[in-house]
Amino acid sequence: MAFKSLLASLVVVVAFLQASQAGVVNKRKTQCPGGSVHQAFNPACCTWFDVLDDLQTNVLFSTCGEASHSALRIVFHDAIGFSRTQKFGGGADGSIIMFGDTELEFAANNGIDEIAGDLKTVADAHGKSYGDIIQLAGAVGVANCAGAPRLSFLAGRPNATAPAPDGTVPDPFQPVDTILARMHDAGFSPDELVALLASHTMAAADKVDVTIPGTPFDSTANVFDSQFFIETQLKGLTFPGTGPNQGEVASPLVGEMRLQSDFALARDHRTACTWQSFVTNHTLMNQRFSDAMDKLSVLGQNTRHFLDCSEVIPHPHSLKVIPHLPAGKTMADIEPACAATPFPDLPTAPGPATTVKPVPPGS
Ligand code: HEM
Ligand SMILES: *[C@@H]1O[C@H](CO)[C@@H](O)[C@H](O)[C@H]1NC(C)=O
Ligand SMILES: *[C@@H]1O[C@H](CO)[C@@H](O)[C@H](O)[C@H]1NC(C)=O
Repeated sequence: MAFKSLLASLVVVVAFLQASQAGVVNKRKTQCPGGSVHQAFNPACCTWFDVLDDLQTNVLFSTCGEASHSALRIVFHDAIGFSRTQKFGGGADGSIIMFGDTELEFAANNGIDEIAGDLKTVADAHGKSYGDIIQLAGAVGVANCAGAPRLSFLAGRPNATAPAPDGTVPDPFQPVDTILARMHDAGFSPDELVALLASHTMAAADKVDVTIPGTPFDSTANVFDSQFFIETQLKGLTFPGTGPNQGEVASPLVGEMRLQSDFALARDHRTACTWQSFVTNHTLMNQRFSDAMDKLSVLGQNTRHFLDCSEVIPHPHSLKVIPHLPAGKTMADIEPACAATPFPDLPTAPGPATTVKPVPPGS
């Protein structure tokens, strides 16, 4: 285990060393041409600053809103189209845009069409590949959220040559076994899945229940904090229901949605302790998320000739994270699930219970 993870990090280090060798990396920045306001350590990254400006002005609005959230979601849905056992998929290859006619019809990709279309426009305007634009937009979208890690960005993905088959994106109503098996097939451990799910701290659902669009997964969807990992651990409301929602356990917070998969992963013995470990350690959450995103962003890709343009990614605003129980909740409302370690004691936000506000459309 220790050796395997050491080996894995060596592979990543080598990939980054190789990537940074492509092009001339200066110790000092040089002015980017064409009246650009940007300076780059690596002049080969200058064109990516132009793409950054276009994205921030026209797609992401430099805000941790709906578009930045969607930009992170499409990273996952594009890249996870990869299998070790069935040998399909280019992974993070932009196939979700290149073969949008096919992939955007898959049920799991419901609602991705808007960001896919916007990113296609930007990529076409700048002559960039769809795989690269998705990864750039995802990293910039994350950076637009205070408290987020500054993700890296490698450029050089060739355009996809085939669509991913249906069924590679986990469904929120699948059992944990099915979800973990799919992630394992793509090369991700249960711990890495939990780390990736930090993304649901900057997230909302439009399509799970179309009558309540923009319903967030935590009470602070506009920042990258650890509230998602706390609020999924609150005792919920059980709906008897029929059909796929049978026995669904909803969030007890008014205005918040809890995916059945997040409910189950927060309580499964394979994932609960890692889930809980992020509650009071934002640094750890960000490090693990960042590592898992590095891996996701080059899934199925040969990075040998990639160019490291991480310098293009904006520095996220920092955030003083104070992990807390939402107003009106006490520790008695927590349903701990990690057998090894007690759930940390948390303060309660002052005041009466509040309603979680939807993420505004078009933000
Ligand atoms: C078990 C795996 C996962 C499941 C079942 C899942 C499921 C979902 C669902 C159902 C939605 C709501 C979509 C809608 O109705 O609009 C959603 C939103 C989202 N997901 Fe996941 N997800 C998973 C993993 C991930 C991962 C690994 C990432 C990123 C690395 C991610 C990022 C997001 C983001 C950012 C949103 C919010 C999109 C928005 O607000 O527009 N998810 N997810
Ligand atoms: C990717 O495909 C698009 C659309 O066909 C094209 O405009 C673009 O030049 C291609 N990019 C690369 C890097 O192959
Ligand atoms: C939080 O995680 C970091 C690793 O990212 C670790 O060094 C630190 O000791 C942890 N802090 C606590 C209070 O557990």
